[in-house]
Amino acid sequence: MSLWSRHKIFETNSIILVLGVLIVVSIGGLVEIVPLFYLKSTIEKVEGVRPYTPLELAGRNIYVREGCYNCHSQMIRPLRDEVERYGHYSLAAESMYDRPFQWGSKRTGPDLARVGNKYSDDWHRDHLKNPRAVVPGSIMPSYPWLEQNELDASRIAEDMKIQATLGVPYSEEMLKKADSDVRIQATADDPNAEDLATRYPKAQSRSFDGNTQKVTEADALIAYLQMLGTQVDFKLYDNKANVR
Ligand code: HEC
Repeated sequence: MSLWSRHKIFETNSIILVLGVLIVVSIGGLVEIVPLFYLKSTIEKVEGVRPYTPLELAGRNIYVREGCYNCHSQMIRPLRDEVERYGHYSLAAESMYDRPFQWGSKRTGPDLARVGNKYSDDWHRDHLKNPRAVVPGSIMPSYPWLEQNELDASRIAEDMKIQATLGVPYSEEMLKKADSDVRIQATADDPNAEDLATRYPKAQSRSFDGNTQKVTEADALIAYLQMLGTQVDFKLYDNKANVR
């Protein structure tokens, strides 16, 4: 029996052909997937990346609730036009504590991965309330309720506990102090701000919405936005820049 006539078995029997195809395709899959199980970590650790503060996490929840991800991505690709517009391309480690991740699949608005410290808090407050007030012709929707609604952070410690079970390194102390940390970070010149920054390096503390009477949803969302992309000091990595 020649080789070609043996091949006839595949060509005349669809079940055997399908099995053959599955075996061949799965070899490709195994070559890609199996090594991942033997690596200690598929994400290279990067200095500066830390879990979100309770206030930032609350802001992130509002970001998800309002569907900001429908128009904004948080992933800068290593392509020259993106790097020139948005800054250093995103590292895997920068979203290692993001559950769910916010990479996004659509950019009706600009990428927000490095929007932190790009604008003032006042700019963000005015922009969220009515984008047209600061960017004429903007098609972004208005979110006027954010600066009116008091922030409900009553379940933020629970939220952090769940994140911890998923691998986010929240310590017992962080969980215990979650409620007070929300207040400390949203208060201007709070005497405990330094203590908060020992738990969460580089955490910015102030009244983000300019209203010192209450902690609002705008406080949390702006705290989150002002932190985006500020954790890693890219001056340390500049010499390794690898822009295609
Ligand atoms: C319908 C699409 C859409 C949605 C939803 C949306 N945005 Fe935008 N966003 C835009 C567009 C378009 C721009 C650019 C014009 C502007 O600055 O207003 C923008 C700009 C921004 C900017 C300024 C970015 C920069 O680098 O200049 C920020 C910050 C921002 N949006 C935050 C948010 C947040 C937070 C939410 C959710 C509460 C949100 N956006 C929801 C479309 C959207």
